[in-house]
Amino acid sequence: MANDLTVLVLAAGKGTRLKSNVAKVLHRAGGYALVEHVVRACVPLNARVVVVVGHQAEEVRAVVEPLGAQAVLQEPQGGTGHAVRIARDAFAGAQTLVVLPGDAPLIQATTLQGLLRKHHEGRAAATILSANLPDPSGYGRIIRREGGGVSAIVEDRALLPSQRGVNEINSSIYCFDLQKLLPCLDQLKPDNAQRELYLTDAVALLDQRGEKVLAQVAPDAHEVLGCNTRAELAEVDRIFRDRKRRDLMAAGVTLLLPETTLVDAEVEIGPDTVIEPNVQLLGRTKIGAGCVIGTGSVINESTLEDGVTVKPHCMVSHCRLASAVVIGPFAHLRDGAELKHGARVGNFVEVKKSTLGEGVKAMHLSYLGDATIGRSSNIGAGTITCNYDGVRKNPTEIGERVFVGSGSELVAPVRVGDGAYIAAGSTITADVPADALAIARQQQVVKAGWAAERRSRVASDKVIVPGASKREKPKLETRKTQSEKRKPRTGKRPRKSRSPR
Ligand code: UD1
Ligand code: CA
Repeated sequence: MANDLTVLVLAAGKGTRLKSNVAKVLHRAGGYALVEHVVRACVPLNARVVVVVGHQAEEVRAVVEPLGAQAVLQEPQGGTGHAVRIARDAFAGAQTLVVLPGDAPLIQATTLQGLLRKHHEGRAAATILSANLPDPSGYGRIIRREGGGVSAIVEDRALLPSQRGVNEINSSIYCFDLQKLLPCLDQLKPDNAQRELYLTDAVALLDQRGEKVLAQVAPDAHEVLGCNTRAELAEVDRIFRDRKRRDLMAAGVTLLLPETTLVDAEVEIGPDTVIEPNVQLLGRTKIGAGCVIGTGSVINESTLEDGVTVKPHCMVSHCRLASAVVIGPFAHLRDGAELKHGARVGNFVEVKKSTLGEGVKAMHLSYLGDATIGRSSNIGAGTITCNYDGVRKNPTEIGERVFVGSGSELVAPVRVGDGAYIAAGSTITADVPADALAIARQQQVVKAGWAAERRSRVASDKVIVPGASKREKPKLETRKTQSEKRKPRTGKRPRKSRSPR
């Protein structure tokens, strides 16, 4: 780690223009909080990374510390210049200080490396990353002197009429020679509309001391886009998604209607996998080669091995699908469900925290929760594991080559041995030994001729309602049945009760 270089990320602000209770840098785009993108872009610089936190300090700290950054608290928030002052102890001893705002998440490591190179080669006191924007409103502007050096940064609100035409904006990303910056930090004054200490004022102070300030125009203006409004957030999110899709396609993944796919930054996909339109792939999902992900599916934090087929409209979260698994359409797999090689889960099947062995089939309308199912077992349509007794979740263990007939309920905890059969419609409440047949349902009653007899009885009961118009079809009315007629009248009125029993 280069100790002479320190990176300072300013992430204490609230972000008033987002009209949100959530601090600006915690808003998400491209699958990460904004500040997480910024810190990640800094990691390749091999420097100490310090993040100034303030609004929702604990939440921001929780995002950046796992990435190896150190958090420094700025309370209250007195402006970008104040934020750098506060962090002084954390970067003491460094030679070069790179400052970035926590709300410009599209910045890339290569651009920062280029900025550092220019800074060192130019032997500058400060080097600013700038960009030329067709609409620079809202940003501070770079005021250059003849010869190209920078004399000042002027905030949008403070622009003179003659400066309004300047399209080169301050990205808020800078390299400073720390020894030259420190005295200027002491000189900052809150002479502005917000009564804050602006880091941008340090540029004019350096210039007044005869120091050299350079500005490097970013190769891609998108990289410096800040996220001050919801519209800017959406735009930045779109750019991230687009970058990710291009990377995937370059790596051999087919995206049908790519503009409709939403893929988070850390998702990995193997070659020759086809992603159909309107798919979301979230978190640290890994998808192998030669898979098909059907339209409308959402896959979150899951691993799919090679050759997996996800038919349309499946929801998969925190699951593991081995090679050649087929699921859907309309399957719901969640909370640690694991499907081994070649297992199949069909439509309207929910699998929670269960393991389905090789070649297991559960094709229709089932709930499998807290279950372990051995290889080659067949789970009939409408099978339900009754895993919850109102207090605890209980396990169901089904062996290998078991046949569970349709419409069965398995009341957990319960075990079904290898090769056993469960008759359709059974409610299984006790363990079933291997190779046994379990039938747990009412015995069927057959009454010969009953249906035919009833039909003739009903037909003879049909009468034409008197007075019905001749043009209309005669209305049918059913007479009271014999048993109803026979019911004796007791004369007793039903007792009035105030509340139902
Ligand atoms: C700032 C620059 C402006 C530049 C723009 C680029 C100043 C005065 N202006 O304006 O020239 O064009 O960025 O996006 O610097 N922050 C703190 N503590 C504070 C105040 C802010 O940590 O007390 C952090 C914020 O969380 C944010 C960053 O600093 O991540 C920039 O602050 P923001 O208020 O967004 O500055 P802008 O008005 O956008
Ligand atoms: Ca900003």
